[in-house]
Amino acid sequence: MGASAIGIGFVLQPELEYLDLLAPVFGALVDYFEIAPETTWWATEGGALLANGFSSEFYEIGQRWAPAGARSKPFVAHGVGLSLGSADPGDRARQLRWLRRLEEDQGRFEFRWLSDHLAVTTAAGEALALPLPLLPTAAAAALVRGRLRELQARVVPDVAFENAAHYFYYGDPLAEAGLIAQILALPRSHVVLDLYNVWMMGQNMGFDPREFLRRLDLSRVIEIHVAGGSYSDFGWLPEGRRLRLDSHDEAVPEPVWALLAEVLPRCVNLRGVTLERMEGTVQGADVGPIAGELRRLRRAVEALG
Ligand SMILES: [Fe+2]
Repeated sequence: MGASAIGIGFVLQPELEYLDLLAPVFGALVDYFEIAPETTWWATEGGALLANGFSSEFYEIGQRWAPAGARSKPFVAHGVGLSLGSADPGDRARQLRWLRRLEEDQGRFEFRWLSDHLAVTTAAGEALALPLPLLPTAAAAALVRGRLRELQARVVPDVAFENAAHYFYYGDPLAEAGLIAQILALPRSHVVLDLYNVWMMGQNMGFDPREFLRRLDLSRVIEIHVAGGSYSDFGWLPEGRRLRLDSHDEAVPEPVWALLAEVLPRCVNLRGVTLERMEGTVQGADVGPIAGELRRLRRAVEALG
C-alpha cells in the first residue's frame, strides 16, 4: 500500500478459527488489515483497558504477511464503540480511557488511519446493541468534530467516520449527508464510505442509494467498505416485513458491486477498499468465494488505471 496506490483490505476478527481458515487470503490478496481496536482489549474491574491475546495475534499476523522489505503488513483501525456522538459528560471518563488505550495501540500497530461509526454507541454508561442515529444538526457535527480532533491529537492525524447503518432514523435519512458535510469542516477528517450500509438503508427505508451518494463529497472518502448481509426473521416486525441486516455474513450483493464501480472513479483521494466479514460466519467452503471477492475488488481498483 504505497502513498498513492489504493490498497485492498480485509478485516481480522477475534476468532482463532476465522483467522486459521482465512490465512490463505492474507498474503497476495490483501494489502492491509482492518481491526476493531476494542477486539484487542480486556477491561480490568477498575475499568482499565489492557491488551488481550488477540492484540499479539493480530500483530504477529501483520508481521507474518509483511511485504518484502517491510516490518509488517499495514493496519487501519475501525472502532465500533468509541461513540463519536455521545454528548453525556458522564461518559467522559470512559472516552479518556479509550483514548489512552488507542494511543498505546498506535505504538504497536501504527494505524495508517483510524475510523469509528457516526452514531451514539454508549448511552447512560451502557454499550448499546444497536447504535443510535445522530440528529443532523450543527451541534451534533461540532460534537463529532471535537471527538475526531482528540483522536488526531492523541492517536493519528488522519481520522474518519463511517456512514451509519441504522434501522430507523429521525426524519429524512438522506439528511445524514448534510451532517457528514458539516463534520468534514475539520481538516484531515475523512469518510469511510460503507456501500453496503448505504444500499441496506436504501432498501429498508425506501430511498435511492445513488441520491445519498450524489450528496456526498466523495473526494473526502479515504476508505470504502463492502460487505454482505442477510434478512431479518419474519417474526421480528409485527407486520412480517423483513429488514436487510448489517450482519456481514454473506457474499457482497451485486447491487453493492454496481455502486462500487460507479463511485470508485469519483473517490479521487481513496486509499483503500476493505472487504468486511463477521466472525462466526466463515466455514471452509466460504474461503474460496471470499478470495474471489478480494480478487474482484482488485480488478475493480485496477480498472481505474
Ligand atoms: Fe463498514
